[in-house]
Amino acid sequence: MRLMWLGGRKKVKKGNLIMQNAQLYKEAQKYLVAGVNSPVRTFNYVGCEPILAKKGEGSRIYDYDGNNYIDYVLGYGVSMLGHAHREVIAKTKTALNSGFSFGLTNKSEIELAKVISEAIPFIEKIRFVNSGTEAVMGAVRLARGSFKRNKIIKFKNSYHGHADYLLAQAGSGLARLKKSTSSGVPDDFIKHTIVLDYNDKEALTRVFDIYGYDIAAVIVEPVGGNYGVIEPDIGFLQDLRLITKKYKALLIFDEVITGFRFLFGSFAQSIGVEPDIICLGKIIGGGLPIGAFAGKAFLMDKLAPLGDVYQASTFAGGPIVMQAGLATLELLKNGQDAYKRISRFSAIIAESIRKSAAANSLEVSISQYGSLFSLRFSEREDFCAFYKILLSKGIFFAPSEFEANFISFAHSKADIDATAGAVKYALENIYQGSNNG
Ligand SMILES: Cc1ncc(COP(=O)(O)O)c(C=O)c1O
Repeated sequence: MRLMWLGGRKKVKKGNLIMQNAQLYKEAQKYLVAGVNSPVRTFNYVGCEPILAKKGEGSRIYDYDGNNYIDYVLGYGVSMLGHAHREVIAKTKTALNSGFSFGLTNKSEIELAKVISEAIPFIEKIRFVNSGTEAVMGAVRLARGSFKRNKIIKFKNSYHGHADYLLAQAGSGLARLKKSTSSGVPDDFIKHTIVLDYNDKEALTRVFDIYGYDIAAVIVEPVGGNYGVIEPDIGFLQDLRLITKKYKALLIFDEVITGFRFLFGSFAQSIGVEPDIICLGKIIGGGLPIGAFAGKAFLMDKLAPLGDVYQASTFAGGPIVMQAGLATLELLKNGQDAYKRISRFSAIIAESIRKSAAANSLEVSISQYGSLFSLRFSEREDFCAFYKILLSKGIFFAPSEFEANFISFAHSKADIDATAGAVKYALENIYQGSNNG
């Protein structure tokens, strides 16, 4: 019989700091919806109180109770250098001294655009925005506006931000117009969104047969990062390139997660598939809010003010985020060897989960690609028990089986070994309800 899980993470008593985390969370719930500004932060999936982040440093984050955790969330894939890198702070501080927001072009925008264009050879022009969601919205509008076509194809279980027409639900069946996954999105708003199974070439071909010349774009996460980690199918991505070319539809790679994650550049260039538009975000802002979409000049120049595809923003290209991005990309470029190292680290963690799960007769499927990994238990409650023990051991994995885990350049071998040890302990103890080891 399964024993009930009894403990939470360690509660460190430090004078008046006792349980500040819990108190703050209570207060957060008074003023913020569910105490958070983005749903996953509630830790609802794993059924324990969330960590509130007081600060981050390198591979670690610190809560308000004095606990620290090796962080595999990294702001959901943002902090590629780890937290609070000194050089990024220094350059960002210098920028701060010159003012925050001008509504005018600033030298740092040109510099960041240049660095990104040099790193991703097929980019000729970029537009910066403030989030991945905005990047995707801009890219889709550009595709629709360029060719005066309406329909877009996306794939089941992908996530491209929260624009209404991208919250279309997945499901079986070919080319059926889907219901939204969120209330507040009229069916009319998603009637041009076609959701297909990733990898289903036959369905793709049939949809193009039927709607071919009204399809503005196919949007895809080339490596899935929002339904756990989904390994790329290079053949399918090549098929997407061929079929979109044939029908003169655009291919949009949503590299909000994957841009600068596996190499200094895009995932696209590593497989030799050139999308028409690439969406970027997360890493390129060095921890500050950013998004970007980019492609060949003839296409990008269809954006206002040169073209009639409207897109604008008060904050886009602000000097502070541009400097944080520049400092980050410079450090990534100079430290490119670390990409291999963190892929190895990711493989070590994946293997340690695999081994310990097998040793304890637990069914856990692990997905790992480069420095991304995710895991799924056959029973959600097992994942929850596992998760709580890990947290009590100072390891912060994504609080859902559907989110990816990330490794940064700041993670050390000692971090990975500690994580492998904690994973082993957690898998041995998920039925014991113990967190005292
Ligand atoms: C692949 C992908 N596209 C778009 C987005 C949306 O980015 P943002 O949350 O910055 O709006 C995300 C967010 O996680 C993402 O993973």
